[in-house]
Amino acid sequence: MEKRQELYAGKAKSVFATDDSDYVVLSFRDDTSAFDGERIEQLNRKGEVNNKFNAFIMQYLSDAGIPTHFEKLLNANESLVKNMKMIPVECVVRNVASGSLVRRLGVEDGMELTPPVFEFFLKNDALHDPMVNEYHIETFGWAKAEDVTKMKALTFEVNAKLKKLFADAGMILVDYKLEFGLFKGEVILGDEFSPDGCRLWDAQTRKKLDKDRFRQGLGGVIEAYEEVAQRIGVPL
Ligand SMILES: Nc1ncnc2c1ncn2[C@@H]1O[C@H](COP(=O)(O)OP(=O)(O)O)[C@@H](O)[C@H]1O
Ligand SMILES: [Mg+2]
Repeated sequence: MEKRQELYAGKAKSVFATDDSDYVVLSFRDDTSAFDGERIEQLNRKGEVNNKFNAFIMQYLSDAGIPTHFEKLLNANESLVKNMKMIPVECVVRNVASGSLVRRLGVEDGMELTPPVFEFFLKNDALHDPMVNEYHIETFGWAKAEDVTKMKALTFEVNAKLKKLFADAGMILVDYKLEFGLFKGEVILGDEFSPDGCRLWDAQTRKKLDKDRFRQGLGGVIEAYEEVAQRIGVPL
């Protein structure tokens, strides 16, 4: 496999073509963004930690029967993944209320959500990722109705697997965001799962171990990511 030209640079990762059009290289940078890209900083080692963290989680989910784009780790900052047509919709599951849900609905931060809440957001920084529903997704052609059903089912399957993985390591999976895409017509999990796109709290102390440390200027961002990685057994 040969790495070729850069196809796209997002806020945290870059995508490179390869000599095989079915595969691309996902390159995890140290750039860390918040508030829809309004604030961007370099956090030393973040690219490497997230690449290895994501590889571990994607492999874990693949082994559990969830279709993912992940093929293999290439080096410290890069992974080989299937080249997908991304669906521009983020799937969010919330097990505990925090962040925008609390701001929007005025519910108590930290309240347990039974059953968990599911939300869709349109991936559009200029519009600040507005919340959308199944009707918007179908009517505006962002995804087919049957693929929306699949994304939702897969996102809940991921919840069952990861809630337990983190709980067994003394953490609460508060919420997380997933992105899906189409590969040869099939809906599969893409993008990344890392502390950049989820909330994780220590189960005992409720210490934040995710990107909220960056958003809220709490410091020790990468140290927290590394602690999570070490607790679930990610080789760093
Ligand atoms: N398997 C894949 N094939 C093609 N594109 C992908 C794949 N996985 C993730 N992407 C896309 O790579 C881009 C770069 O990631 P990121 O830096 O997180 O971007 P963004 O600023 O849009 O969040 C995103 O647009 C994401 O949807
Ligand atoms: Mg992203």
